[in-house]
Amino acid sequence: MKKELVISKIEKGTVIDHINAGKALLVLRILGIGVGSRDTVTLAMNVPSKKMGKKDIVKVANKFIGDEELNKIALIAPKATINLIEDYEVKRKFKVRLPEFIEGILRCPNRNCITNSGEIITPKFYIRLKNDKVIARCYYCNRIIKDVDECVI
Ligand code: CTP
Ligand code: ZN
Repeated sequence: MKKELVISKIEKGTVIDHINAGKALLVLRILGIGVGSRDTVTLAMNVPSKKMGKKDIVKVANKFIGDEELNKIALIAPKATINLIEDYEVKRKFKVRLPEFIEGILRCPNRNCITNSGEIITPKFYIRLKNDKVIARCYYCNRIIKDVDECVI
């Protein structure tokens, strides 16, 4: 008997595939899906993948998430593929694109940064790739973040 792991197909909504193994919960955080969310979400972590060895998948039913929001996922999962599903079929497929500038997803690790001063200031970062690794630089204090996963709000 062939044993297969099946996550149900969805009729309609957004499938985020090829997420780096173990990062699905961070993807949900970036999308603002957390405690109290009413969305129908299925998720698989550390499933076998031909391309990646292991991967995570997130499926948000009945919701077409906007490109700009989806591209923020590239911060932690640069190989993620987006599939927009309608009538059980993939209507649009694209790879996430790393934004050059982001607001509100990361917090600045510099304790003296104005964004950590108690004032209500949205953190902002310049984003770039260095040797295939995502690097963020604080718009306010220029602090460089080399491990963005650690700084997701
Ligand atoms: N999917 C889904 N519901 C559907 C159709 C597809 O949840 N009604 C999911 C699949 O489970 C898969 C992703 O959307 O995780 C992409 O589907 P598809 O393009 O059919 O799969 P692949 O060809 O394997 O995709 P890729 O080439 O991007 O790896
Ligand atoms: Zn800062």
